[in-house]
Amino acid sequence: MSVPDSALPIIRTATGFFQAQALFAGIELGLFARLSREPADAAQIQREFGLHPALTHDYLDALVAMDLLARDGSTYRAAPLAAAHLDPAAPEYIGGFLAFNQRRLYPAWGTLSAFLRSGENLAQKFSDKGDFTAELYADPRRARAFTEAMDGYAVLLARPLAEKYRWDEVKSFADLGGCRGMLTMRLAAAHPHLRGVTFDLPPLEPFFDELAGELGGGTDLRDRVAYQAGSFFTDPLPDTQVYIFGHVLHDWSDERRRELVGRAFDHLPPGGALLVYDSMIDDERREGVFNLLMSLNMAMISGSSEYTVAEGTGWLTEAGFTVEAPVALNEITTLLVANKPL
Ligand SMILES: C[S@@+](CC[C@H](N)C(=O)[O-])C[C@H]1O[C@@H](n2cnc3c(N)ncnc32)[C@H](O)[C@@H]1O
Repeated sequence: MSVPDSALPIIRTATGFFQAQALFAGIELGLFARLSREPADAAQIQREFGLHPALTHDYLDALVAMDLLARDGSTYRAAPLAAAHLDPAAPEYIGGFLAFNQRRLYPAWGTLSAFLRSGENLAQKFSDKGDFTAELYADPRRARAFTEAMDGYAVLLARPLAEKYRWDEVKSFADLGGCRGMLTMRLAAAHPHLRGVTFDLPPLEPFFDELAGELGGGTDLRDRVAYQAGSFFTDPLPDTQVYIFGHVLHDWSDERRRELVGRAFDHLPPGGALLVYDSMIDDERREGVFNLLMSLNMAMISGSSEYTVAEGTGWLTEAGFTVEAPVALNEITTLLVANKPL
């Protein structure tokens, strides 16, 4: 039966998960790490990874077609994209984020039509006490997997954020909901005059200490970053010139978002700034496929959503901030810079 060409966009969308699973399998096998270190031919790869001989060529060549591997004669190596982001030794490794997509989000998205009817999110479904984060962090293995997933965003956004804000005009910042501190450490490393605080819940402090040891051990970075444990709803926020809420407002209801933005305004000194970034939705709500689907993803995980640039600007303005024109940190992430008047 022939498939008319006009259906190809649908076929590609429907089979998009082939590519996702090919990618996840490469991470799970450790293939990209291996081929970033040293090239190998198919027979060698088949032996080393215990792959089935009949499947090895198609799998490796599919990864070549996906621009994740490069083939030279019969030798395969990691393509630049994979070497930059799929090798655990690379500074912008996002394997933890991919593992989270594979293990948590992929199965959840398999139940989308049921979710669209029931609206019952994963937090409601699987949480005994209604506190999803507390339960997640009570299990150190799951807590680690979550922090590694969040690192995926932090390592990609740290560079544009380090470049697109006037860091030379300030001395200190705090990343509120900063997870295990990856963004704090990257920003402080990019701007050696800066001091940064990661503010997050108490169970993440040991993960911060571990990362600070890895990234800052033996350097002055270790002395310029610190962890402050607390809840951004109830505890005093750090004393500093700039706050960051990165992928935080998208976790909460509009009411909670207003509360967080209001607390940030109250705690900042006059002239201070709040930087908010999220996968914000375009105001016409028709362009960003990723951002609109990410909004559904947030609804499925925690019952929250993404929001439009206008909505975000509205909450910040209501709190008393003067908001600058939105800045694209990358194709899917918008930054709003909100200044507290002097
Ligand atoms: C979606 S993650 C965002 C991580 C990181 N900022 C990023 O850009 O990817 C939300 C973070 O908010 C933290 N968080 C949740 N409730 C909190 C609270 N009440 N006080 C402080 N942090 C909280 C979580 O522990 C988690 O690290």
